[in-house]
Amino acid sequence: MPTIPDGYRMSLDPSDLQFDVIHAYLSRSYWSPGIPREIDEKAALHTLCVGVFGPDGGQVGFARMATDHATFGYLADVFVLEDHRGRGLSPAMIRVLMDLPDVVGMRRLMLATRDAHGLYAKLGWSPVVDPSPFMQIQKKELYPALKTED
Ligand SMILES: CC(C)(COP(=O)(O)OP(=O)(O)OC[C@H]1O[C@@H](n2cnc3c(N)ncnc32)[C@H](O)[C@@H]1OP(=O)(O)O)[C@@H](O)C(=O)NCCC(=O)NCCS
Repeated sequence: MPTIPDGYRMSLDPSDLQFDVIHAYLSRSYWSPGIPREIDEKAALHTLCVGVFGPDGGQVGFARMATDHATFGYLADVFVLEDHRGRGLSPAMIRVLMDLPDVVGMRRLMLATRDAHGLYAKLGWSPVVDPSPFMQIQKKELYPALKTED
């Protein structure tokens, strides 16, 4: 495991995850505002997840990689709570996921970011030079819509 500051603990154990914290952040994030908690829990259940926990035991950071465990991984939901930023916690979480034996052998890893390109560039990621082969379906309004229908 990469070194993290004293007092912090990093874990790949899904049973350590604290969904009160994870959902509270992701539901106010710019990429999944209003996401229902059960969607966060279902996504985590089927994903490689890493958490960082602070001196009081509370979760302060999260990242996950959606993957077939063999060829492809999609890094998502990377965050560190505001009071714990600037300590290298997110690079440590991303590095742990990238260093998992299954992930090391994958031929493509992808992610999307609005403004954190520099963080990922330090870890070997680079912009897609030619996006023309890639296509997507994006449902930006899905989570708020689900929430209001509940
Ligand atoms: C982006 C985020 C995860 C960074 O977490 P962090 O653990 O505080 O990261 P650090 O500040 O310790 O930065 C680690 C390195 O990445 C760089 N970095 C961090 N955020 C960056 C950003 N937005 N743009 C460019 N570089 C960034 C830092 O300069 C630092 O570089 P260094 O090692 O050379 O000093 C955190 O600010 C966050 O949760 N932001 C809100 C959610 C978000 O935007 N998540 C990413 C979605 S793609």
